[in-house]
Amino acid sequence: MSLLKEIQQVRMDAAVELEKVGDAEALEAWRIRYLGSKGAVKAAMLRLKNVSREEKPALGQAANELKNALSEAFEHRKRRISEGAAPGRRGPAVDVTLPGTRPRIGHTHVITQTIEEICEIFARMGFIVATGPEVEDEHHNFEALNIPPAHPARDPLDNFYIDDKTMLRSQTSTVQIRVMENTTPPVRIISLGRVYRPDTVDATHSFMFHQVEGLYVDEGVTMADLKTCLDQFCKAYFGHEVRTCFRPSFFPFTEPSAEVDIEFHRPDGTAYWVELGGCGMVDPNVLEAVSYDSERYTGYAFGLGIERMVMRKHHIPDIRLLFENDVRFLHQF
Ligand code: FA5
Repeated sequence: MSLLKEIQQVRMDAAVELEKVGDAEALEAWRIRYLGSKGAVKAAMLRLKNVSREEKPALGQAANELKNALSEAFEHRKRRISEGAAPGRRGPAVDVTLPGTRPRIGHTHVITQTIEEICEIFARMGFIVATGPEVEDEHHNFEALNIPPAHPARDPLDNFYIDDKTMLRSQTSTVQIRVMENTTPPVRIISLGRVYRPDTVDATHSFMFHQVEGLYVDEGVTMADLKTCLDQFCKAYFGHEVRTCFRPSFFPFTEPSAEVDIEFHRPDGTAYWVELGGCGMVDPNVLEAVSYDSERYTGYAFGLGIERMVMRKHHIPDIRLLFENDVRFLHQF
């Protein structure tokens, strides 16, 4: 190999190897290999003795340039290693005393937060949480709840049927039946989860929403207990100033039945009422269908819309905001 080629090769090899050098020990090995008394630069200098008089000035200059470039690169790398820089990195070393950048992490959805809060409030009143399937049979969604086959609530246009006998549950009242089928009184449960209805979507309606169901069956349970329980719950969740209203209503599985309305406020301060849920005393037919003695036991039940609660508490004007997954909205809660 000609001396010029050798000088160029040494310069390239040295640069590549120096990039990989990460600590003082590796740097010293590199120095010995290239700049040491038996190193590559010295070897190139020695070969200068044998070149012709004409070639000597140019090759001498190339060998000197090699020595200077490698010495300079060595000093530079030495400084960077003492500053703590990793091999191959450019720019200043890491300043570990600077405050870090806190990563932006997510949190539970406002509906999940509300579900947890509701569970906590009812737990203080002695309710335990029960669960049931979202894909339900007609028996638990309708028949056992005293809703006979010809009832308009069973219309295929008002429900999401999967096949003739199976559907997405339209209410959490299904869990009342599942619990009573497997438990003897007293029973005091709540059940929270998604329900599905092909309702027209607007500011207060969605085709999928969440309900909290409550059921208390024991000897001597009265409508006054139901009203006290829901009043206490509303005060605990919304605050003592909240105004609720019980309106007589009808559900096939409770008698008497009522609807609970809650006062909402427009941005201009004017008030209006929104239905929060349904409730009533469990119909004796429902108790008998699960082999409870309806002469001995009475009970109350309620089913409240969780989205409506969230909207009232956080002043959310439209239910759709809860399902659009816009993080700018969700980060507020
Ligand atoms: C029921 O679902 C009964 N199962 C409630 C019940 C339980 C009555 C136990 C008696 C005893 P209703 O269809 O009214 O009732 O629904 C209850 C609540 O769910 C409503 O008051 C409302 O807050 C909420 N809700 C109903 N439909 C929608 C909808 N499309 N979008 C959002 N929330 C809704």
